[in-house]
Amino acid sequence: MTNKPLIEPQKKQSHLTVDSSSYKSQSKHSFQTVYTYIQTRIQRGDWQAHAKLPSVRQLAEDTGMHRLTIFKAYQHLKEDGHVYARDKSGYYVQPPALQVLTNEAELGLPLFQGNLGELHRIEATYQFSKALITPNLLPNHYFAEYVKQVFDLYPKLLGTYATAQGDLELREMLQRYFTDTAQFHVHADEILITTGAQQAISLIAEVWIRPGDHVLIETPAYASALDVFEQKGAKLVPITIDANGYDLVQIKEAMKKYKPRFFYLNPTFHNPTGVCISAEQRKQLVDLAAQYECLLIEDDTCHDIYFDQKPPLPLFAYDTEGYTIYIRSFSKYVSPGLRMACIVARPEWFTPLLAAKSLADGGTPLLNQKVFLLYFTSSRLQQHIEKLRIALRIRLEIMEEELSSTGWYYETPQGGFNLWVRLPDHLSVPELLARCLKQSISFVPGSLFDRNDTSQQYIRLCFSFASEHEIRQGIQQLVSIAKEMEST
Ligand SMILES: Cc1ncc(COP(=O)(O)O)c(C=O)c1O
Repeated sequence: MTNKPLIEPQKKQSHLTVDSSSYKSQSKHSFQTVYTYIQTRIQRGDWQAHAKLPSVRQLAEDTGMHRLTIFKAYQHLKEDGHVYARDKSGYYVQPPALQVLTNEAELGLPLFQGNLGELHRIEATYQFSKALITPNLLPNHYFAEYVKQVFDLYPKLLGTYATAQGDLELREMLQRYFTDTAQFHVHADEILITTGAQQAISLIAEVWIRPGDHVLIETPAYASALDVFEQKGAKLVPITIDANGYDLVQIKEAMKKYKPRFFYLNPTFHNPTGVCISAEQRKQLVDLAAQYECLLIEDDTCHDIYFDQKPPLPLFAYDTEGYTIYIRSFSKYVSPGLRMACIVARPEWFTPLLAAKSLADGGTPLLNQKVFLLYFTSSRLQQHIEKLRIALRIRLEIMEEELSSTGWYYETPQGGFNLWVRLPDHLSVPELLARCLKQSISFVPGSLFDRNDTSQQYIRLCFSFASEHEIRQGIQQLVSIAKEMEST
């Protein structure tokens, strides 16, 4: 598509209404006219990154053009990286960080336009974008044995539905596990088995978010949570997270001002920054939540993946007033394929969640729950986690060693899978990504975790998927690409 505007720039408008007169008067009523009109307004800043654009129907009515013409314009804008689409929700402005990457002709580089899921689908030899543990470090070879054992123990298993809440035996095991390891006392009735933490997040959004509701969320934040909440129409209120943890004054002000539906947080080896919130801040947070009657949604996916010291107890353990809903996933370090996670919530929050789960899928597959139960209660689990911690720490050390010549800023995480690295201002992250993808190296640009442009200079490098050798080679190449960019 040409970038030449067909419509002269108009006076800046601060709202999302469409001034159709300019293109009604165009004699050439083609999709190109609409394309240029929307592109011009985005470039002029009338519609900011992630702003929702007028619907196809609305634009068709305003302009008198056929809906297909408008649709075609949006399709081309999407292909050219100016807008992105969300299922059943419409079109949104693509943030600039990704637009730069779409300028293939200028950079002579492969395209990347899209979200985290799309980035993960790009094959790369040096895989630093997926926050996943390589299957080589997971206990896959034991699972055949456990599957057989499950069928020996429960021969009619596949002839039965799972209950929506989850297998009682598994919930009782988790109840004991939480008491022993996290020091919180729950009843098996307060545990809901979910298909991954991702489903837990979706259920919570389904139950509590209505369009226009405020939700507090860390900045940067786990990208898929941002997507889910936005899709539900939430207004996201950013809460800073950095090496010092949270700014509690900021949280207090936000709770007071916005009366949010909840604060979604990932306080233990936070994705993407790796930050682990201190016990002191956890206590203060649950006090604030009780004071302002704000739910805390604590997402805990990496609790057992620490390198030296155990992290502090989950917020849920400090919360005596019952304002915390706890999400715990076992996907990452037991088996991503089993999709095993749970929500722990006090009875007043539990009932609507159970109803939502029932409507969503009627229950997580029983076979997965039983296989997980057998493995999780075996002595092999502990051995596996101990070896895993060592393997991950070695990978992290190699990554840091290879980055040491750069002077780039990062804090060494005490657990988790990611290194959150700040690049110098003169290095363009989108360009670095484009150059890296061309050489089969992938990482995630910070902008995907942030709706406020505060993470533009950051990249997330995951050290749990690539092998030690691949980390060494891949990071060496990434650094040399960056140095080449700096020298030109
Ligand atoms: C913070 C956070 N929450 C939730 C998830 C999703 O976990 P699951 O694989 O259990 O759905 C992830 C996965 O990366 C994550 O990092």
